[in-house]
Amino acid sequence: MRMYDIIIKKRGGGALSEEELRWMITRYTEGDIPDYQMSAFLMAVYFQGMTDEETAILTDAMARSGESLDLSGIPGVKVDKHSTGGVGDKTTLIVTPIVAACGCTVAKMSGRGLGHTGGTVDKLESIPGMCASLSRDKFLDVVRRTGIAVTGQSPDLAPADKKLYALRDVTATVDSIPLIAASIMSKKLVAGSDCIVLDVKTGSGTFMKTVEDSVCLAEKMVAIGVHNGKKIAALITNMDIPLGYQIGNALEVEEAVRTLRGQGPDDLTEVSLALAAQLLFLAEKGDMDDCRKLARDTLDSGAALEKLVAMVEAQGGDGTCVRHPEKLGRAPFAMEVKAETGGYITKMDSAGIGIAAMLLGAGRETKESEIDPLAGIILSKKTGDSVKKGETVATLLTSDETRLDAAKERFLESVAIGQAAPEKKPLIYARVTERGVE
Ligand code: URA
Repeated sequence: MRMYDIIIKKRGGGALSEEELRWMITRYTEGDIPDYQMSAFLMAVYFQGMTDEETAILTDAMARSGESLDLSGIPGVKVDKHSTGGVGDKTTLIVTPIVAACGCTVAKMSGRGLGHTGGTVDKLESIPGMCASLSRDKFLDVVRRTGIAVTGQSPDLAPADKKLYALRDVTATVDSIPLIAASIMSKKLVAGSDCIVLDVKTGSGTFMKTVEDSVCLAEKMVAIGVHNGKKIAALITNMDIPLGYQIGNALEVEEAVRTLRGQGPDDLTEVSLALAAQLLFLAEKGDMDDCRKLARDTLDSGAALEKLVAMVEAQGGDGTCVRHPEKLGRAPFAMEVKAETGGYITKMDSAGIGIAAMLLGAGRETKESEIDPLAGIILSKKTGDSVKKGETVATLLTSDETRLDAAKERFLESVAIGQAAPEKKPLIYARVTERGVE
């Protein structure tokens, strides 16, 4: 078999056989297929797509490219959550302790942030002492002791995805539905959980700009999960504007804790409770109404916050910084961004705001960039709010004063003020399960 022939077949719109796909993933993982040929293949997929059968085989081949996590020795229903990535998306810090406090077991592998989107691992590591790159034994030990652990993605699981994702990132082939579905689901299949909720973000700050594309991606991922014996559902949620008011690592931990105290912003609270209820439902904790109530009651009782503290302490972090997040500190340099005119905020582009936060030091421009845990943005206004000329729209925070001007410029480019209030968009567009789209 030759990679050249596989590229030509896909370039011409042909469907690859199981043998071809498995051969390609094995040989690429072993380093026998060069990146330039795989790049050409990825671009061919970007333009020609893949059939559902090809996507399922690709996912399985990627999942089998390394080890898998065996959670069978851990009692209870194991649950997992995945977000396709957004700006200000700290729902993992809220959803996972809620479901763990309800008796589900969470053994979650999370990513680091790159570009305009943040990563849960970076957020957790803004807590002093917190280790989010646990060895497998330590990870399983924390899961057994506290019912919840969150760690970075293990390089032994789905190594083909790690290599392919890095290549897609630099060859403009990330936003392809079959490639995203195979990438996410290969990692979820080997991570060993029984129930999975997917938060498929839609809008300006995401890979999927339209609700239709997001639903299509969700349907493909749900089908792959069901085929592999998982209980799985996806929510399609809005990412045209950042979630919550705080963007940046320590700032997001602070807002997540406030939400776990019942004092969070409405949008973040609503999406987090919906995701938690969905997971509780998959874990058979009751019907959908029972699960919504259970999630809300668990948040209100403070039990979820205590779970987060327990997890942070078990992973070496300072639990007092979770109970009192003001102890995480504030970046030394701040700049208020004021409205240049009065009216309504008509646009607050997530991607642009994520890039502004990255320019302040909250995110990575390249994989090697160092994160400034205190850097970020506190929004004072969001889309739909009225604003007077000179009023503060946001505060930019950083430990490096020289970063402020470029970040302010990027922030201002991402926000529009008009004279008419914009139409309000839904926060949750749809739910996708094996029964279809609701
Ligand atoms: N997240 C992933 O893990 N993979 C993708 O391809 C896109 C988002």
